[in-house]
Amino acid sequence: MNKVEYADALQKIRRILSNRDDSDALQRVVDFLQSEFRHYSWVGIYLVQNDVLVLGPWRGKEATEHTRIPLGTGICGSAAKSGRTEIVDDVSKDDRYLSCFLSTRSEIVVPIKKGTSVIGEIDIDADVPSAFTKRDAVFLEKVADMLSKHI
Ligand code: SME
Repeated sequence: MNKVEYADALQKIRRILSNRDDSDALQRVVDFLQSEFRHYSWVGIYLVQNDVLVLGPWRGKEATEHTRIPLGTGICGSAAKSGRTEIVDDVSKDDRYLSCFLSTRSEIVVPIKKGTSVIGEIDIDADVPSAFTKRDAVFLEKVADMLSKHI
């Protein structure tokens, strides 16, 4: 079980982001997601800079070597290019997958958009297969919407 319900989590994230003077707000959102949802093993936000995804705030037990990912590369780059959420139930079966952690079994990537442009994304790795459902996608798309207004 998660420590919070999705609806409560949205409220809490809205509160974190409502403080516009807080330069660490994105990090706080990442920390909140990673600590409250048991299947969110590693949570990071990438921001698009000149056609490259650059890693911003993250939280998890290890750092990733993939701190810069070209658009179109990996699951992250695919989601950024298409503007669509990617859910991968088994990363070992996806040829696009860029491996960061040996423990990762499944992944979700949710684009952060301003209008139709992708300005970043939320990337979450899970240590169990098929960890992410439509509920995670709907929830994280709402979070991405809130982040978009803050970035
Ligand atoms: N697995 C991602 C790379 C980022 S790490 O998961 C943090 C991908 O395939 O794009």
